[in-house]
Amino acid sequence: MALPQRDGFSGRFGVLAAAAGSAVGLGNIWRFPYITGENGGGAFLLIYLFFILAIGIPVMLSEFVIGRRSQSNALGSFKKLSPGSSWWLIGLMGIIAAFVILSFYSTVSGWTLEYIFQAAASGFDGKNMEQLNTEFVAFTSGSFRPVFWQIIFMALTAVVVLAGVQKGIEKYTKILMPALLILIIIICIRSLSLPGAKAGLEFLFVPDFDKITGQSILLALGQAAFSLSIGMGALITYGSYIRKDTPLLGTAVQVATVDTLIAVLSGVMIFPALFAMGESPAGGPGLVFVTLPKIFQSMPGGYFFSIAFFILLSVAALTSTISVLEVVVAYMKEELKMSRLKATLIGGISITAIGVLCTLSFGPLKDFTIFGKTVFDLMNYMSANIFLTFGALFIVIYTGWKLGKSNFINEINEGGKVHPLIATILVFIIKFIAPIAVGAVAIGAFFIEGLM
Ligand code: PFF
Repeated sequence: MALPQRDGFSGRFGVLAAAAGSAVGLGNIWRFPYITGENGGGAFLLIYLFFILAIGIPVMLSEFVIGRRSQSNALGSFKKLSPGSSWWLIGLMGIIAAFVILSFYSTVSGWTLEYIFQAAASGFDGKNMEQLNTEFVAFTSGSFRPVFWQIIFMALTAVVVLAGVQKGIEKYTKILMPALLILIIIICIRSLSLPGAKAGLEFLFVPDFDKITGQSILLALGQAAFSLSIGMGALITYGSYIRKDTPLLGTAVQVATVDTLIAVLSGVMIFPALFAMGESPAGGPGLVFVTLPKIFQSMPGGYFFSIAFFILLSVAALTSTISVLEVVVAYMKEELKMSRLKATLIGGISITAIGVLCTLSFGPLKDFTIFGKTVFDLMNYMSANIFLTFGALFIVIYTGWKLGKSNFINEINEGGKVHPLIATILVFIIKFIAPIAVGAVAIGAFFIEGLM
């Protein structure tokens, strides 16, 4: 009798859509523009691009290798590949990171749903930036509405995860990702055609290295890790669903390219319009929810674009949240022997419970701080700058020093041979460059600049 097949992606496009779906999310459209705005624009972008190439792709590839070789979840994979050792602690850290990320991520994801409704109700019409900002603050500092939308969003995430890998995750991401790309390009064109848009492009692309500090280098690394979904096992989990005939290196390069393209396009979508309207680039987390509604007002067909944009923003968020929840669900299913239903319910409900604290930290809990940060800010900061950077560090150390060169090379050669020189360079980066670079930045910034 044949063994029951492990659920998995059907082929190359399915993997790309799902992995790019995980990578492309609020990190690209909501987080990247405001972090870039606050940290020196073009100079920050250059450092960011360097990290994507030098660290991001090698770490992503390592995660795919660990997942596919072990055919197991983020924690089980280390147990399977290195039994009797403590390496599974990396997986445990990833599962904790999933809780941290999803709790604050679902807050902002919930906001995107509210904004779909505001857009549909012509809620932005005739309002200036100040009014839009006041309304954004009034909404986010409330209690019932933001929590309501957060719960709905987590329920949507759970529904897709419940449907499984091929019939849920792959099926939805294959349609939603291309639609997102097309819409962003259209909005970019509009933003670029506004008078005065050039200053925004200069801000985004002309580097000013005076603005770069140790903290902003850490932020660039953290943002690269966050944006690519590396460092916590999401891509180990997805890697375990990739078929043997799919080339891992090609997939990693494609995912990183799509992710970076959408992050840069999001900057092109926002900054030219921001400058054209005479606003300051350091708009903070509200940037997308205030600036874009203003752009839509001045666009022909803006009503439809604004609805479409917020739908797609929530879709981008959704394809990311499902990958985070899947980390927890695959772990509970395989290691704790739960059914997919039970794992999804327990995982989803406990994450939502922490998430509500993040949401309320804009309103009733705004004076409740830890290390001087609200719960939301703490989770937001910790996720990228502590969990994902240290996660990425341990993953490359594991791949470079424990998994073994031949295991690594054999795995990347499945589904298409990688040129031996490229394979050697990758091994060198994973063994020496990536651990030293990530280690230096993570530890340096952690101690020198202080924790927060
Ligand atoms: N990459 C996602 C984004 O840029 O929005 C966020 C994310 C998803 C981070 C999945 C980590 C992860 F495992």
